[in-house]
Amino acid sequence: MLVRIEPEDVEIGMFVHAFEGSWFDHPFWRSNFRVETIEQLERIRNSGIEGLMIDPERGIAPSGGRQPSKGEEGPRQKLSRSWGRPRPTVRTAPLPKIFAQPDPEDRAAPRPRRGYSSECRRAKPVISRTRAAVVDMFEAARLGRAVEVKRMVRLASSIGASIERDAKALINLVRLKEKDEYTYLHSVAVCALMINFARHLELDPQQVEDMGVAGLLHDVGKVAVSDAILNKPGALSKDEMRSVRSHPAAGHRLLASSPGAPEIALELCLRHHEKVDGTGYPGRLKGEELSLAARMGAICDVYDAVTSNRPYKQAWTPCEALTEMKKWQGHFDPALLDRFADSLGIYAMGTLVRLSTGELGIVVGSEGEADEDLVVRAFFDCDALAEIEFVDRTIAPSAEHPRIIGRDSPTFWRFPDWDVLRHKVLAAEIIPDEDEG
Ligand SMILES: [Fe+2]
Ligand SMILES: [Fe+2]
Repeated sequence: MLVRIEPEDVEIGMFVHAFEGSWFDHPFWRSNFRVETIEQLERIRNSGIEGLMIDPERGIAPSGGRQPSKGEEGPRQKLSRSWGRPRPTVRTAPLPKIFAQPDPEDRAAPRPRRGYSSECRRAKPVISRTRAAVVDMFEAARLGRAVEVKRMVRLASSIGASIERDAKALINLVRLKEKDEYTYLHSVAVCALMINFARHLELDPQQVEDMGVAGLLHDVGKVAVSDAILNKPGALSKDEMRSVRSHPAAGHRLLASSPGAPEIALELCLRHHEKVDGTGYPGRLKGEELSLAARMGAICDVYDAVTSNRPYKQAWTPCEALTEMKKWQGHFDPALLDRFADSLGIYAMGTLVRLSTGELGIVVGSEGEADEDLVVRAFFDCDALAEIEFVDRTIAPSAEHPRIIGRDSPTFWRFPDWDVLRHKVLAAEIIPDEDEG
């Protein structure tokens, strides 16, 4: 039997059946899912919706099996008097994997990258086949021929299967492309990022596949732009800029005449250079006018561009890319950009994270060769619920280093003035991490 509860009574582990009110007020893209992260919990509580239906048979039931009556003090109100402490209502529910208390033995255990190298081996031929198909597609498009959509669907499905086996293998391989491979491998990379992102957003399998196909096809209109312009290191002239800006409409025209092209692919092709503040092209659409595919595509497209070596720019690390992209006010949907970061497990500088040491810390930089190499300044002990002397922890993919369990929420920990504390942590002098030699 479904039970109606208010947003503040939602707990991790509950299964949301439906939200009340208009779809546009919902904090999620779909309303049928299990609440698994603190971030989801916060989004529901801060959404402004009045109520929601939960299904106790598919998740945990409301505490005590009833709602506090009006005027009665609920658990949240009782707890709000003591800052800095997590709400027991959250802790009583089964914690999701990424926020579970780490096993103290975990630090000595090998990194859980089982299957990563074997998936890298399997992903390489998938990337080569897809790259070859993208080359063929661009050549056919130059001759005015339609896109072979069925072939692209098959390849997107192979990429999806690789991501399902190991989300990082193919995405990491395709990101590390050489300068001269960018044009074709960029389409493969955007396909993989879109599939991974769509899976993370729990879209249905058909939508996930369509998003992947859309990623492969999104830049097909670039056949209308010369390579000299596309790879020009300096500023573009007005005419060159006009030529570059014609590629979304050119691609859309080509896909519209290609039998079987999914609607999402046409949409992404036309809209991946729009910005949420309405300053993008070709339509200067903004906010709600932009579809989910357009907003997702804008993020995946730029992320791959800035994390790839280009003739005129060295690649940024994932941390640097996300840090910069978060600063570009008005370009991306900020909530969706956070979800994208979660989908890849990447962190911008300044992000609050939980460490496997049981500490909270703020990401203060990235260093080293691997994507995961970060420096996190620990400042809070989650078990003692107390601030600690600040210490910089080096995060790296090896058993000797602590690892990031996940992004955490300052609201959840109820720091009395998070901005002040954050500033204090960021402005502190770096202390070497003696534990790690
Ligand atoms: Fe583009
Ligand atoms: Fe692109």
